[in-house]
Amino acid sequence: MAKSSIIYTCTECSHQAPKWEGRCQQCESWGTLMEGEKMAPTQRDKKIAAHARSPKEFTSVLASLSKSIATATGIEELDRVLGGGIVDGALILLTGEPGIGKSTLTLQIANALSQQSKKILYISGEESEEQISLRGQRLNLQLQNLHILAEQNLESVIATAEQEKPELLIIDSIQVMSSGALPGGGGGTSQVRFCTEQLLEFAKPRNIPVLIIGHVTKDGNLAGPRVLEHLVDTVLYFEGSRSHELRMLRPVKNRFGSTQEVGIFAMDSKGLQPIDNVQDFFLKDRHAGQIGTCLVATMEGSRPIIVEVQALTNKTAFGYPKRTTSGFDLNRLNLLMAVLERHCGVRLSEQDVYINVVSGYRMNDPGADLGICMAVLSSYYKKALQSDYVACGEIGLSGEIRKPKTWKQIERELKKLRLVSDKKGTNLQKLMEEYFR
Ligand code: TYD
Ligand code: MG
Repeated sequence: MAKSSIIYTCTECSHQAPKWEGRCQQCESWGTLMEGEKMAPTQRDKKIAAHARSPKEFTSVLASLSKSIATATGIEELDRVLGGGIVDGALILLTGEPGIGKSTLTLQIANALSQQSKKILYISGEESEEQISLRGQRLNLQLQNLHILAEQNLESVIATAEQEKPELLIIDSIQVMSSGALPGGGGGTSQVRFCTEQLLEFAKPRNIPVLIIGHVTKDGNLAGPRVLEHLVDTVLYFEGSRSHELRMLRPVKNRFGSTQEVGIFAMDSKGLQPIDNVQDFFLKDRHAGQIGTCLVATMEGSRPIIVEVQALTNKTAFGYPKRTTSGFDLNRLNLLMAVLERHCGVRLSEQDVYINVVSGYRMNDPGADLGICMAVLSSYYKKALQSDYVACGEIGLSGEIRKPKTWKQIERELKKLRLVSDKKGTNLQKLMEEYFR
């Protein structure tokens, strides 16, 4: 009997099975197997001839580079993160939760480049041409050189880009793009990966930069962005909470610059506004000098940020004490509470503890530890800290305080803002006795 030429391929992970199954055996997704023809033998099955090639000399490659291959957008908070600007032929992945402002930022980037007479092709798979135009109008953008196309088919997108020859290609978003060469609709891992590979093949030899938008869910592992990270040159995460105006643009990978910098924006009714004076933004409505609050100095890239932390402690009414945080890691809070109990003798195991970092900021810097402890102690002892006091230091398991490596920079900033911190505080217990007993 002739062998069947039909094969079933999973749209999520490309696993192939000879007969249809309800669940993919490899990635365990349900209902993702699609019927298709067996592919022709791949390159692997053919004999591949090896050629010795001559590698280029490093210095000669360097000499042949033009002076500047990165185009600054003029949006300083973005250029800072990109390492100067958009590099020719670069694939940039802009990811974040749905609704965080990726399309808005992209349209503003398009506007900034269109003002430099660059031709931009905006492929929208999610919104119609009219919706994008209306958004541009609402944001008061000029967008003279912007060409918009609502399209989801990858082959049509590439054919259009080939014809239009844009100086920036925008794909909004990669999850809705699909190629006719693969079974299944857009959004599956194999579709997302294949579409990105095709865009890479199109853009690299032509030196066209491509900005790809990709959605992630709260846990960050929706089909898409995570599997693309190794394919693209730059990955930017756009984060923030929808209930606050603060938005942070963080590079998690950048082949053309540092991943230490962040871009800080505020989302208002006129779109995203770059925040150049970060201290004004974070300190504009502070409640320093009140019980349970403490100013904390942390670093974001090369910039010190001073932000207010609020803590509330309350006697646990029944059973297990409750701890909740907003803008700070809950496990880290639990650890700090254990250090306070053990080394400073504060009975926090009978207290509910709530932490809130003002303005929707998320603190990742371990230098924030001391500020959290001081805010908790202030609430526990019902005693306010001085209004110009700023805490900064990482807390070790034996209650020692370590100043961060960037302390000199922070100190300079505090001086400028006429704020004070404790220089000598090397031990949490001593510091607590000084301030609260
Ligand atoms: P959007 O860019 O569509 O998000 P994404 O592409 O990441 O899904 O932005 C959506 C949110 O941004 C929407 O909830 C409204 C808000 N927004 C503003 O607050 N101000 C504005 O000027 C614009 C355009 C959007
Ligand atoms: Mg969008």
